[in-house]
Amino acid sequence: MKRYLALLAIIAMLSQNLLYSQKFQSLARTPPMGWNSWNKFGCDINEKIIREVADAMVTTGLRDGGYSYLVIDDCWQVARDSSGTIVADPQRFPSGMKSLGDYIHSKGLKFGIYSDAGTATCQGRPGSRGYEFQDARIYASWGVDYLKYDWCNHGKQNSEASYTTMRDAIFKAGRPMVFSICEWGTTKPWEWAKDIGHLWRSTEDIINCFDCNNYWGGNGVVQIIDLFKDIGSYTGPGHWNDADMLEIGNGVLTPAEERLHLSMWAMFSSPLMAGNDIRNMSRETIEILTNKEVIAIDQDSLGISAIRWMKYGDLEIWFKPLSKGEFAFCFFNRGSQPVTVNEDLKTTIRKYSIDGAFRIRDLWKHQDIGLTSENIKGTLLPHDVLMVRLYK
Ligand code: GLA
Repeated sequence: MKRYLALLAIIAMLSQNLLYSQKFQSLARTPPMGWNSWNKFGCDINEKIIREVADAMVTTGLRDGGYSYLVIDDCWQVARDSSGTIVADPQRFPSGMKSLGDYIHSKGLKFGIYSDAGTATCQGRPGSRGYEFQDARIYASWGVDYLKYDWCNHGKQNSEASYTTMRDAIFKAGRPMVFSICEWGTTKPWEWAKDIGHLWRSTEDIINCFDCNNYWGGNGVVQIIDLFKDIGSYTGPGHWNDADMLEIGNGVLTPAEERLHLSMWAMFSSPLMAGNDIRNMSRETIEILTNKEVIAIDQDSLGISAIRWMKYGDLEIWFKPLSKGEFAFCFFNRGSQPVTVNEDLKTTIRKYSIDGAFRIRDLWKHQDIGLTSENIKGTLLPHDVLMVRLYK
């Protein structure tokens, strides 16, 4: 009898483990879009800012343009109480996270939060190591829809195992949450994270510059583009390479560079997380961030990442197959001199056994500029971009 009961207990345990060993599969079928507090505010966040950002996401049209997740990054948490429950900063978030989440939801937005797989976050706040199930339960009770999960202070932890534990904790807590893995590409998450997270940062932190590296790590826009050249095949519906949050509207990139930044993130089917102070945006920044035609390339249901098709010196041409037999091409000039474009697009699409004439639509000018029977021609100024859709 004892043996029989022990066997039953083992079977029950195994089937429970199987039951919880999964992520919420139906989420993030297209790359998640939203806003994240880190690039602009760092640790200087509070509930007033977050509420105002929620308001601005509605009034500026960002929400209706697809930016639906409002993610509070590092520094909202200060301690654990005697029962191990994570405590939000009482000075900066006096109303508490549940009430903030309710406000975010009342604006038709989704609520995102941040933690870390190690013992402490990158800013030294309490991490989730050892508290994964408890943390997931409390996030669920606050109405959290998205968890960004960082990788600082992880000691000798194994990345795949650590992220799997939090995935299982989220699933067990029972509230669907997008799980955003943030280990900066260190252990090649594209090779192991498909069934663990919905997106994974693939590179070190973005730096607010077009073409630069930091000695301690971090990449400009062009450096991230280069790193994305070889990992495109790993991305797809429900599991995305994440090129990091946008620096559009943060006062350093020129309008051309900002257009290039959004265009290439869309070519990669990367999540699009605005990272600027959207309470105070110029008309131009709003227009760039909410360019419907570029966002449609990002959100295309096939979820294919672009390949670099040609590189002629500083001129690069990237190519992305879209649903309904359409295609996107992105030409950009990474150099400091103007470059000439003169390209036969029909030869490329023939490689995909597609023939016939397509119309070519410029997605930044919002106009048709020709047919594929003719070469596409023009001049690209330094750091400028030409992004087109081929359609019938
Ligand atoms: C890491 C992440 C960033 C941000 C900070 C917060 O550097 O990669 O995106 O979350 O931590 O401390």
